[in-house]
Amino acid sequence: MRVYFDSAATTQLAPEVITEMTKVMAEDYGNPSSIHADGRKVRSIVEEARKTCATAIGASIGEIFFTSGGTESNNMALKCAVRDLGVKRIITSTVEHHCVMHTVDRLEKEGVEVLRLEVNHIGQIDYDALESLLENSSTKTMVSLMHANNEIGTLLDIERVGLLCKAHGALFHSDTVQTVGHFPIDVSEMHIHFLSCGAHKFHGPKGVGFLYMNANAIVEPFIDGGAQERNMRAGTENVYGIVGQAVALRMAVDEMEERINHIKGIKQYMKDQLADTFEDIRFNCPGMDKGLYTVLNTNFPASSKNEMLLMHLDILGISASGGSACSSGADAGSHVIQAIKSDQDGRKSIRFSFSHYNTKEEVDYVVGKLKEILPELVKKNETVLEA
Ligand SMILES: Cc1ncc(COP(=O)(O)O)c(C=O)c1O
Repeated sequence: MRVYFDSAATTQLAPEVITEMTKVMAEDYGNPSSIHADGRKVRSIVEEARKTCATAIGASIGEIFFTSGGTESNNMALKCAVRDLGVKRIITSTVEHHCVMHTVDRLEKEGVEVLRLEVNHIGQIDYDALESLLENSSTKTMVSLMHANNEIGTLLDIERVGLLCKAHGALFHSDTVQTVGHFPIDVSEMHIHFLSCGAHKFHGPKGVGFLYMNANAIVEPFIDGGAQERNMRAGTENVYGIVGQAVALRMAVDEMEERINHIKGIKQYMKDQLADTFEDIRFNCPGMDKGLYTVLNTNFPASSKNEMLLMHLDILGISASGGSACSSGADAGSHVIQAIKSDQDGRKSIRFSFSHYNTKEEVDYVVGKLKEILPELVKKNETVLEA
Protein backbone atom coordinates (compact mmCIF):
# COMPACT_ATOMS: atom_id res chain seq x y z
CA MET A 1 0.00 0.00 0.00
CA ARG A 2 1.18 3.54 -0.71
CA VAL A 3 -0.42 6.52 0.93
CA TYR A 4 0.07 9.92 -0.60
CA PHE A 5 -0.22 12.56 2.12
CA ASP A 6 1.80 15.23 0.34
CA SER A 7 -0.76 17.13 -1.70
CA ALA A 8 0.64 20.51 -0.65
CA ALA A 9 3.79 19.55 -2.58
CA THR A 10 1.82 18.45 -5.58
CA THR A 11 -1.40 16.65 -6.39
CA GLN A 12 -2.25 13.74 -8.62
CA LEU A 13 -3.82 14.62 -11.96
CA ALA A 14 -7.59 14.33 -12.06
CA PRO A 15 -8.59 11.65 -14.63
CA GLU A 16 -10.83 14.23 -16.33
CA VAL A 17 -7.78 16.47 -16.78
CA ILE A 18 -5.81 13.64 -18.39
CA THR A 19 -8.71 12.90 -20.76
CA GLU A 20 -9.00 16.50 -21.89
CA MET A 21 -5.27 17.04 -22.21
CA THR A 22 -4.66 13.90 -24.24
CA LYS A 23 -7.54 14.76 -26.52
CA VAL A 24 -5.94 18.11 -27.31
CA MET A 25 -2.52 16.45 -27.64
CA ALA A 26 -3.88 14.03 -30.20
CA GLU A 27 -6.08 16.38 -32.17
CA ASP A 28 -5.11 20.00 -31.76
CA TYR A 29 -1.49 20.48 -32.64
CA GLY A 30 -1.70 23.85 -34.40
CA ASN A 31 0.32 26.79 -33.16
CA PRO A 32 -2.11 29.25 -31.55
CA SER A 33 -0.26 32.12 -33.24
CA SER A 34 -0.80 30.68 -36.74
CA ILE A 35 -3.57 32.34 -38.67
CA HIS A 36 -4.75 29.23 -40.52
CA ALA A 37 -7.64 27.10 -39.30
CA ASP A 38 -5.45 24.70 -37.26
CA GLY A 39 -3.89 27.63 -35.46
CA ARG A 40 -7.17 29.45 -34.95
CA LYS A 41 -8.73 26.36 -33.42
CA VAL A 42 -5.99 26.11 -30.83
CA ARG A 43 -6.10 29.87 -30.19
CA SER A 44 -9.76 29.52 -29.30
CA ILE A 45 -8.95 26.59 -26.98
CA VAL A 46 -6.33 28.72 -25.19
CA GLU A 47 -8.67 31.69 -24.91
CA GLU A 48 -11.48 29.50 -23.62
CA ALA A 49 -9.08 28.27 -20.93
CA ARG A 50 -8.19 31.87 -20.06
CA LYS A 51 -11.88 32.65 -19.66
CA THR A 52 -12.31 29.68 -17.32
CA CYS A 53 -9.37 30.83 -15.17
CA ALA A 54 -10.56 34.44 -15.13
CA THR A 55 -14.10 33.41 -14.15
CA ALA A 56 -12.75 31.17 -11.36
CA ILE A 57 -11.23 34.16 -9.56
CA GLY A 58 -13.54 36.98 -10.64
CA ALA A 59 -10.97 38.56 -12.98
CA SER A 60 -11.33 39.86 -16.51
CA ILE A 61 -9.83 37.82 -19.32
CA GLY A 62 -7.20 40.50 -19.98
CA GLU A 63 -5.86 40.16 -16.45
CA ILE A 64 -4.82 36.48 -16.73
CA PHE A 65 -1.32 35.69 -18.03
CA PHE A 66 -0.34 32.04 -18.40
CA THR A 67 3.06 31.14 -16.98
CA SER A 68 5.03 28.00 -16.13
CA GLY A 69 3.63 27.93 -12.59
CA GLY A 70 3.69 29.57 -9.19
CA THR A 71 7.42 30.24 -9.16
CA GLU A 72 7.39 32.12 -12.42
CA SER A 73 4.24 34.04 -11.53
CA ASN A 74 5.77 35.21 -8.27
CA ASN A 75 9.05 36.14 -9.98
CA MET A 76 7.15 38.04 -12.65
CA ALA A 77 5.03 40.03 -10.20
CA LEU A 78 7.90 41.04 -7.94
CA LYS A 79 10.55 41.73 -10.55
CA CYS A 80 8.27 43.56 -12.96
CA ALA A 81 6.72 45.68 -10.21
CA VAL A 82 10.19 46.89 -9.27
CA ARG A 83 11.32 47.35 -12.85
CA ASP A 84 8.17 48.91 -14.28
CA LEU A 85 5.97 50.30 -11.53
CA GLY A 86 8.50 52.27 -9.51
CA VAL A 87 8.47 49.99 -6.45
CA LYS A 88 11.41 50.85 -4.20
CA ARG A 89 10.36 49.03 -1.05
CA ILE A 90 8.94 45.55 -0.46
CA ILE A 91 7.25 44.45 2.75
CA THR A 92 7.14 40.67 3.02
CA SER A 93 7.42 38.04 5.77
CA THR A 94 9.97 35.54 7.04
CA VAL A 95 7.80 32.55 6.08
CA GLU A 96 7.23 33.04 2.36
CA HIS A 97 7.90 30.26 -0.14
CA HIS A 98 11.48 30.20 -1.43
CA CYS A 99 10.41 31.52 -4.80
CA VAL A 100 9.25 34.74 -3.15
CA MET A 101 11.99 34.84 -0.51
CA HIS A 102 14.85 34.39 -2.93
CA THR A 103 13.40 36.77 -5.49
CA VAL A 104 13.08 39.41 -2.80
CA ASP A 105 16.65 38.69 -1.62
CA ARG A 106 17.87 39.31 -5.16
CA LEU A 107 15.89 42.54 -5.48
CA GLU A 108 17.36 43.67 -2.16
CA LYS A 109 20.90 43.10 -3.50
CA GLU A 110 19.91 45.24 -6.46
CA GLY A 111 18.95 48.14 -4.20
CA VAL A 112 15.31 47.61 -3.19
CA GLU A 113 14.57 48.19 0.48
CA VAL A 114 13.13 45.01 1.98
CA LEU A 115 11.30 44.71 5.29
CA ARG A 116 10.52 41.22 6.57
CA LEU A 117 7.69 40.87 9.06
CA GLU A 118 8.24 38.30 11.79
CA VAL A 119 5.43 35.86 12.56
CA ASN A 120 4.03 34.56 15.85
CA HIS A 121 4.00 30.90 17.00
CA ILE A 122 1.25 30.02 14.53
CA GLY A 123 2.75 31.87 11.61
CA GLN A 124 0.62 35.01 11.73
CA ILE A 125 2.00 38.44 10.92
CA ASP A 126 1.27 41.44 13.11
CA TYR A 127 -1.23 43.52 11.12
CA ASP A 128 -0.56 46.60 13.25
CA ALA A 129 3.15 46.34 12.49
CA LEU A 130 2.31 46.14 8.80
CA GLU A 131 0.08 49.18 9.09
CA SER A 132 2.70 51.26 10.86
CA LEU A 133 5.29 50.35 8.20
CA LEU A 134 2.83 51.47 5.54
CA GLU A 135 1.94 54.65 7.44
CA ASN A 136 5.44 55.84 8.01
CA SER A 137 6.81 55.97 4.51
CA SER A 138 6.21 57.79 1.29
CA THR A 139 8.40 55.35 -0.68
CA LYS A 140 6.54 53.41 -3.39
CA THR A 141 5.87 50.09 -1.66
CA MET A 142 4.70 46.64 -2.63
CA VAL A 143 3.42 44.25 0.04
CA SER A 144 4.06 40.60 -0.80
CA LEU A 145 2.43 38.17 1.63
CA MET A 146 1.32 34.62 0.95
CA HIS A 147 -2.36 33.76 1.31
CA ALA A 148 -1.76 30.36 2.90
CA ASN A 149 1.51 29.05 4.19
CA ASN A 150 2.38 25.83 2.37
CA GLU A 151 4.09 24.26 5.38
CA ILE A 152 1.92 25.03 8.38
CA GLY A 153 -1.28 26.25 6.73
CA THR A 154 -1.57 29.69 8.33
CA LEU A 155 -4.01 31.88 6.42
CA LEU A 156 -3.50 35.58 5.80
CA ASP A 157 -6.43 37.94 6.19
CA ILE A 158 -6.04 38.87 2.54
CA GLU A 159 -8.97 41.30 2.53
CA ARG A 160 -7.55 43.19 5.51
CA VAL A 161 -4.08 43.44 3.95
CA GLY A 162 -5.67 44.59 0.69
CA LEU A 163 -7.52 47.37 2.51
CA LEU A 164 -4.37 48.45 4.35
CA CYS A 165 -2.50 48.61 1.03
CA LYS A 166 -5.33 50.57 -0.52
CA ALA A 167 -5.41 53.05 2.36
CA HIS A 168 -1.69 53.70 2.01
CA GLY A 169 -1.30 53.54 -1.76
CA ALA A 170 0.79 50.36 -1.76
CA LEU A 171 0.73 47.63 -4.37
CA PHE A 172 -0.29 44.20 -3.11
CA HIS A 173 0.97 40.84 -4.35
CA SER A 174 -0.13 37.58 -2.79
CA ASP A 175 1.29 34.13 -3.39
CA THR A 176 -2.02 32.29 -3.60
CA VAL A 177 -0.53 29.07 -4.94
CA GLN A 178 -1.97 27.00 -2.05
CA THR A 179 -5.41 28.61 -2.14
CA VAL A 180 -6.50 29.04 -5.76
CA GLY A 181 -8.98 26.23 -6.37
CA HIS A 182 -9.22 25.53 -2.62
CA PHE A 183 -10.89 28.68 -1.31
CA PRO A 184 -13.34 31.04 -3.00
CA ILE A 185 -11.31 33.93 -4.42
CA ASP A 186 -12.93 36.94 -6.02
CA VAL A 187 -10.44 39.60 -7.05
CA SER A 188 -13.27 41.92 -8.08
CA GLU A 189 -14.13 42.22 -4.39
CA MET A 190 -10.55 42.63 -3.21
CA HIS A 191 -7.85 45.25 -3.40
CA ILE A 192 -5.06 43.23 -4.97
CA HIS A 193 -2.70 43.81 -7.88
CA PHE A 194 -0.98 40.46 -8.40
CA LEU A 195 -1.98 36.94 -7.48
CA SER A 196 -0.18 33.70 -8.42
CA CYS A 197 -1.45 30.26 -9.34
CA GLY A 198 0.16 26.86 -9.99
CA ALA A 199 -2.09 24.21 -11.57
CA HIS A 200 -0.42 21.20 -9.97
CA LYS A 201 -1.76 22.16 -6.56
CA PHE A 202 -5.35 21.41 -7.59
CA HIS A 203 -5.00 18.25 -9.68
CA GLY A 204 -3.84 20.02 -12.81
CA PRO A 205 -0.56 19.48 -14.64
CA LYS A 206 2.88 20.60 -13.49
CA GLY A 207 4.71 23.37 -15.30
CA VAL A 208 1.73 25.64 -15.85
CA GLY A 209 0.08 28.38 -13.87
CA PHE A 210 -1.02 31.95 -14.26
CA LEU A 211 -0.43 35.39 -12.91
CA TYR A 212 -3.42 37.61 -12.27
CA MET A 213 -2.36 41.16 -12.96
CA ASN A 214 -4.84 43.89 -12.12
CA ALA A 215 -5.71 46.07 -15.11
CA ASN A 216 -4.30 49.08 -13.20
CA ALA A 217 -0.90 47.46 -12.65
CA ILE A 218 0.11 46.20 -16.07
CA VAL A 219 3.86 45.83 -16.48
CA GLU A 220 6.30 45.49 -19.39
CA PRO A 221 7.13 42.07 -20.94
CA PHE A 222 8.65 39.54 -18.56
CA ILE A 223 9.98 37.36 -21.40
CA ASP A 224 10.85 39.12 -24.65
CA GLY A 225 10.12 37.58 -28.01
CA GLY A 226 6.85 37.02 -29.84
CA ALA A 227 3.56 38.59 -28.98
CA GLN A 228 2.15 35.71 -26.92
CA GLU A 229 0.27 36.50 -23.73
CA ARG A 230 -0.36 40.00 -25.06
CA ASN A 231 3.38 40.63 -25.37
CA MET A 232 3.94 39.88 -21.72
CA ARG A 233 5.47 36.43 -21.90
CA ALA A 234 6.84 35.36 -25.25
CA GLY A 235 7.10 31.75 -26.39
CA THR A 236 4.66 29.30 -27.94
CA GLU A 237 2.05 28.52 -25.34
CA ASN A 238 2.02 25.33 -23.27
CA VAL A 239 -1.34 24.49 -24.81
CA TYR A 240 -1.82 21.09 -23.15
CA GLY A 241 -0.88 22.47 -19.77
CA ILE A 242 -3.15 25.47 -20.21
CA VAL A 243 -6.06 23.18 -21.09
CA GLY A 244 -5.33 20.87 -18.15
CA GLN A 245 -5.13 23.81 -15.77
CA ALA A 246 -8.51 25.15 -16.90
CA VAL A 247 -10.24 21.77 -16.54
CA ALA A 248 -8.71 21.23 -13.11
CA LEU A 249 -9.64 24.71 -11.92
CA ARG A 250 -13.20 24.49 -13.19
CA MET A 251 -13.62 21.18 -11.37
CA ALA A 252 -12.01 22.56 -8.23
CA VAL A 253 -14.42 25.49 -8.18
CA ASP A 254 -17.49 23.40 -9.05
CA GLU A 255 -16.69 20.74 -6.45
CA MET A 256 -15.17 23.05 -3.86
CA GLU A 257 -17.75 22.57 -1.13
CA GLU A 258 -17.73 18.76 -1.29
CA ARG A 259 -13.95 18.65 -1.43
CA ILE A 260 -13.63 21.00 1.54
CA ASN A 261 -16.01 18.89 3.62
CA HIS A 262 -14.25 15.67 2.71
CA ILE A 263 -10.74 16.95 3.32
CA LYS A 264 -11.69 18.66 6.60
CA GLY A 265 -13.11 15.32 7.74
CA ILE A 266 -9.86 13.52 6.90
CA LYS A 267 -7.75 16.15 8.62
CA GLN A 268 -9.86 16.19 11.79
CA TYR A 269 -9.86 12.38 11.89
CA MET A 270 -6.08 12.23 11.61
CA LYS A 271 -5.62 14.98 14.17
CA ASP A 272 -7.88 13.13 16.64
CA GLN A 273 -6.19 9.78 16.01
CA LEU A 274 -2.75 11.25 16.54
CA ALA A 275 -3.78 13.18 19.64
CA ASP A 276 -5.34 10.01 21.11
CA THR A 277 -2.30 7.88 20.29
CA PHE A 278 0.81 9.92 21.00
CA GLU A 279 2.06 11.49 24.19
CA ASP A 280 2.51 15.26 23.92
CA ILE A 281 2.00 15.49 20.17
CA ARG A 282 1.39 19.06 19.03
CA PHE A 283 0.06 20.64 15.88
CA ASN A 284 1.72 23.57 14.23
CA CYS A 285 -1.25 24.69 12.23
CA PRO A 286 -3.94 26.97 13.55
CA GLY A 287 -7.41 25.63 14.44
CA MET A 288 -9.38 23.66 11.86
CA ASP A 289 -11.53 26.56 10.74
CA LYS A 290 -8.79 29.13 10.60
CA GLY A 291 -6.08 27.48 8.55
CA LEU A 292 -5.51 25.85 5.20
CA TYR A 293 -7.68 22.75 5.55
CA THR A 294 -5.45 20.63 3.30
CA VAL A 295 -2.46 20.80 5.66
CA LEU A 296 -1.89 19.10 9.02
CA ASN A 297 1.51 20.00 10.35
CA THR A 298 2.32 17.74 13.28
CA ASN A 299 5.04 18.16 15.87
CA PHE A 300 6.33 15.01 17.58
CA PRO A 301 8.24 14.94 20.88
CA ALA A 302 11.97 14.14 20.88
CA SER A 303 12.84 10.63 19.76
CA SER A 304 15.91 8.85 18.40
CA LYS A 305 13.90 8.12 15.23
CA ASN A 306 13.03 11.73 14.53
CA GLU A 307 15.83 12.55 12.15
CA MET A 308 14.91 9.61 9.93
CA LEU A 309 11.15 9.79 10.42
CA LEU A 310 10.33 10.79 6.86
CA MET A 311 12.58 8.06 5.49
CA HIS A 312 10.96 5.44 7.74
CA LEU A 313 7.54 6.56 6.57
CA ASP A 314 8.64 6.43 2.95
CA ILE A 315 9.93 2.89 3.32
CA LEU A 316 6.58 1.91 4.83
CA GLY A 317 4.76 3.37 1.84
CA ILE A 318 3.86 6.81 3.12
CA SER A 319 4.68 10.06 1.36
CA ALA A 320 4.78 13.05 3.68
CA SER A 321 7.03 16.03 3.97
CA GLY A 322 9.28 17.86 6.38
CA GLY A 323 8.66 21.20 4.80
CA SER A 324 8.21 22.40 1.27
CA ALA A 325 8.92 19.95 -1.55
CA CYS A 326 12.20 21.68 -2.35
CA SER A 327 13.60 20.87 1.09
CA SER A 328 11.82 17.59 1.82
CA GLY A 329 14.39 15.42 0.01
CA ALA A 330 17.38 16.84 1.81
CA ASP A 331 15.31 17.49 4.94
CA ALA A 332 17.56 20.46 5.54
CA GLY A 333 15.22 22.06 8.08
CA SER A 334 12.55 24.52 7.25
CA HIS A 335 12.73 28.30 7.57
CA VAL A 336 9.03 28.29 8.45
CA ILE A 337 9.44 25.83 11.31
CA GLN A 338 12.41 27.87 12.50
CA ALA A 339 10.39 31.08 12.32
CA ILE A 340 7.64 29.66 14.54
CA LYS A 341 10.28 28.12 16.85
CA SER A 342 8.59 24.76 16.74
CA ASP A 343 11.33 22.13 16.55
CA GLN A 344 12.92 22.91 19.92
CA ASP A 345 14.43 20.27 22.24
CA GLY A 346 14.65 17.56 19.61
CA ARG A 347 11.00 17.83 18.57
CA LYS A 348 10.19 17.09 14.94
CA SER A 349 7.65 18.58 12.58
CA ILE A 350 6.11 16.52 9.81
CA ARG A 351 3.62 17.87 7.30
CA PHE A 352 0.77 15.66 6.17
CA SER A 353 -1.33 17.21 3.43
CA PHE A 354 -4.47 15.89 1.84
CA SER A 355 -6.66 15.85 -1.22
CA HIS A 356 -10.24 14.71 -1.78
CA TYR A 357 -8.85 11.40 -3.06
CA ASN A 358 -7.60 10.47 0.45
CA THR A 359 -9.56 8.20 2.78
CA LYS A 360 -9.90 7.51 6.51
CA GLU A 361 -8.48 4.03 5.89
CA GLU A 362 -5.30 5.69 4.74
CA VAL A 363 -5.21 7.70 7.95
CA ASP A 364 -5.57 4.47 9.97
CA TYR A 365 -2.68 2.97 8.02
CA VAL A 366 -0.43 5.98 8.59
CA VAL A 367 -1.22 6.25 12.31
CA GLY A 368 -0.61 2.49 12.65
CA LYS A 369 2.80 2.79 10.98
CA LEU A 370 3.72 5.79 13.10
CA LYS A 371 2.98 3.68 16.18
CA GLU A 372 5.36 1.03 14.87
CA ILE A 373 8.10 3.55 14.19
CA LEU A 374 7.68 5.54 17.41
CA PRO A 375 6.55 3.00 20.08
CA GLU A 376 8.22 4.98 22.87
CA LEU A 377 5.92 7.95 22.17
CA VAL A 378 2.69 5.95 22.22
CA LYS A 379 0.46 6.74 25.19
CA LYS A 380 0.54 4.05 27.88
CA ASN A 381 -3.16 3.14 27.67
CA GLU A 382 -2.75 2.77 23.89
CA THR A 383 0.09 0.27 24.36
CA VAL A 384 -2.05 -1.79 26.76
CA LEU A 385 -4.90 -1.84 24.26
CA GLU A 386 -2.51 -3.03 21.60
CA ALA A 387 -1.15 -5.91 23.72
C1 LIG B 1 3.07 28.74 -1.50
C2 LIG B 1 3.78 28.30 -2.74
N1 LIG B 1 4.26 29.22 -3.58
C3 LIG B 1 4.87 28.88 -4.73
C4 LIG B 1 5.07 27.57 -5.07
C5 LIG B 1 5.77 27.23 -6.35
O1 LIG B 1 4.85 26.86 -7.32
P1 LIG B 1 5.31 26.01 -8.62
O2 LIG B 1 5.72 24.67 -8.11
O3 LIG B 1 4.09 25.96 -9.48
O4 LIG B 1 6.43 26.75 -9.26
C6 LIG B 1 4.60 26.57 -4.22
C7 LIG B 1 4.82 25.13 -4.53
O5 LIG B 1 5.43 24.40 -3.80
C8 LIG B 1 3.93 26.94 -3.03
O6 LIG B 1 3.46 26.03 -2.17
